[in-house]
Amino acid sequence: MSKNTEPMGQGATCSVLFVCLGNICRSPAAEGVFRKFIADADLAKHVVVDSAGTGDWHLGELADVRMRQVAAKRGYELLHRARQIKVADFAAFDFILTMDESNFRNVSELAPSKTDLVKLQRFTQFNTKLDYQEVPDPYHGSLDDFSLVIDILEDGCRGLLKLVSERLGGLGRGIL
Ligand code: 4NP
Repeated sequence: MSKNTEPMGQGATCSVLFVCLGNICRSPAAEGVFRKFIADADLAKHVVVDSAGTGDWHLGELADVRMRQVAAKRGYELLHRARQIKVADFAAFDFILTMDESNFRNVSELAPSKTDLVKLQRFTQFNTKLDYQEVPDPYHGSLDDFSLVIDILEDGCRGLLKLVSERLGGLGRGIL
């Protein structure tokens, strides 16, 4: 696995893991949005995208039906089945992006070493238009709260796509 700051060569892969609490609302939606962005930029061959939860209550489940409905209306199909983050994910992924501060704390406690913490970042740091420090948990909210999640994810995924494309040595169509 290469260091986070080094661009990678032609044919190389870059891997991104999105993390929330249950892995049925925010992080599978982030995975779905970023998968579409990556596919639209012609980068699907080069980028591994996945998501996970810090909790284990929903293992094996599809994303929450409200999240899937709102995402589908915006053009994103969510097919992920919930799984729990594991220590080995630190070796497997270049970027581990958490949705809120509680996720960030919980995942940082799982890091096998201080060096691995470099991979762990807050998703919202990639936002450029919407000023949110966290992606708010919509689980007990309304459909509007689920829509807001997609708004924030689209904004951040645009910034993330730029970074990933740069890491891949400028690959991608940069269509966003
Ligand atoms: P997520 O949302 O972390 O965005 O998947 C939640 C899903 C389930 C629960 C809480 C948050 N829950 O308490 O079961």
